[in-house]
Amino acid sequence: MQKDATTYDIIEGQSIRLVQITDPHLFSDPQGQLLGVNTRASLASVLQLVHDNHQNVDCILATGDISQDYSAQSYQAFAAMMSTHTVPCHYLPGNHDDIHTMNLHLQGEKLSGDKQILVGNWQILMLDSTVRGKPGGLLSDAELSFIERSVAQEPQRHCLLVMHHNPILTGAAWLDQHCLANGNEVLKSVSQLANVRGILWGHVHQQIDKTYPGATGDIHLMATPSTCIQFTPKSDFFALDNLQPGYRLLDLHADGSMSTHVYRVPGKTFFPDESAGGY
Ligand SMILES: [Fe+2]
Repeated sequence: MQKDATTYDIIEGQSIRLVQITDPHLFSDPQGQLLGVNTRASLASVLQLVHDNHQNVDCILATGDISQDYSAQSYQAFAAMMSTHTVPCHYLPGNHDDIHTMNLHLQGEKLSGDKQILVGNWQILMLDSTVRGKPGGLLSDAELSFIERSVAQEPQRHCLLVMHHNPILTGAAWLDQHCLANGNEVLKSVSQLANVRGILWGHVHQQIDKTYPGATGDIHLMATPSTCIQFTPKSDFFALDNLQPGYRLLDLHADGSMSTHVYRVPGKTFFPDESAGGY
């Protein structure tokens, strides 16, 4: 077990049910809008949908860009919204987060910034892909060593890697300039490790489901819609999608397989400002 680790006990052989929420982009102002969408209202709708859809979630993963303005109040608002759920929430930073402010204000009994989650036959590694002051990401040698060490120390567990930035390109040129810069190297390296079953990220505000060949079968590559605005897939220039905010459900099975599905808020409540020319 690593130093910053959380362990959950579950019934042997049982699947682990996770919800990923990502890129809430909250403001200090409760009425704060990102390109025309009130980000607290859209996050609240997504959390309500999670609550309505599933009664048996083991833990929520929040994969960065929790704040849009680096404010203490934005993190306090997130902590308050998560505290209304009985499910523990693990978070990691995105490029819009200030790590110091985030760690200081994401406080609560059920909130954790631990890097390793040990549960059933699985370990979930919460990685920091951010580069201070830059929108793009990089997985440092320290993070890569952390992955290798964790996998070596828990050979009986399947492994899910979680980060903010996209290790593969989306096909949208404006967005891909801010991808995980060493994504190819990371994929090559982790695909050599036994038991890496999936990589999960946010940042791109759209759903992606692909696979990459790994040492013990295909590795699931998964990106998830933001809880606020959505980017249009494969657009060379900045473009917003009218798809509604959403989240991803993951069931990690004891045999190392997984089932996953993206859910979006029904109806047409959240529409971005179509005249927005940038982000
Ligand atoms: Fe981001």
